Amino acid sequence: MRNLAWINGTVSDISEAKVSLEDRGHLLGDGVYEVTRIYNSRPFYLSAHLERLHKSAVAIRIDIPVRIGEIEEIVADLIKKSDCIDGYLYIQLTRGSAQRNHLFPVGATPNLTLYVRGLDPLPALEAVKPAECITLPDERWLNCHIKTVNLLPNLLARQKAAEAGAQEAILYRSGDVVTEGTRSNVFILIDGKVRTHPESNLILSGITRRIVLDILTELAISNSEENFTRHDLQNASEVWITSTTMEVNPVAKIDGNRVKGTAPGPICYRLMEELRNKIAATCF
Ligand SMILES: Cc1ncc(COP(=O)(O)O)c(C=O)c1O
Repeated sequence: MRNLAWINGTVSDISEAKVSLEDRGHLLGDGVYEVTRIYNSRPFYLSAHLERLHKSAVAIRIDIPVRIGEIEEIVADLIKKSDCIDGYLYIQLTRGSAQRNHLFPVGATPNLTLYVRGLDPLPALEAVKPAECITLPDERWLNCHIKTVNLLPNLLARQKAAEAGAQEAILYRSGDVVTEGTRSNVFILIDGKVRTHPESNLILSGITRRIVLDILTELAISNSEENFTRHDLQNASEVWITSTTMEVNPVAKIDGNRVKGTAPGPICYRLMEELRNKIAATCF
């Protein structure tokens, strides 16, 4: 396959794709983005990702320069041209290119950038490695529902996790309330009920999170979008994290302590299976 990019209508190899030095995403982090997984040459839940892109753009007052339907056509064409079977699609929208100034530029056209990169096909569920996580204070701003390219607190926390030998940092705010991971949403099973942080300005409303909540309800597994604390996290019988690229990933250790049950526990494993079924039904 070829890793191809689409920048404001021009298709080229990623290695040759260029945006202006004065792109406001580059200079000021003034932009929003999406990542969608490609399975069997089809983008999984693309319309949900484009809906979230639209919401993020509205929240920071950028007009998407093309219709959402057109983005779907651009994506289909890019996947076809790149011959991508397993991979991911990255979409970024910035306020445009203009002389550096905090104020919104008058007359600048937003820059829309897409690219496709290959990934290894999915491992068998048995081969999915349970993650080790650490907990860290959530140092982000109060608009975490917007998927902006400003990821510095996430990067610093993830780097700390990696340096501690962990795959993810689980973040908490005042009162020890667990919000989410640096690039994932967090679920626990405690007292027979699955819990995850409610949708609010304190978390990114994950597409995978919503799919998992819907599966839980379909399976009549007790669940609620309800705050939980680090103490609950340490006392849960199952913990898992969700994201587009990690799917449903069991958590085995938190801050060096083993999660009480097995990883994956039975509910987590069922969700891993059901998500794969959804992928198969949607993309194959
Ligand atoms: C902070 C954060 N939370 C949650 C998620 C999971 O969202 P999704 O399932 O839509 O990939 C991500 C994904 O990048 C993220 O960056």
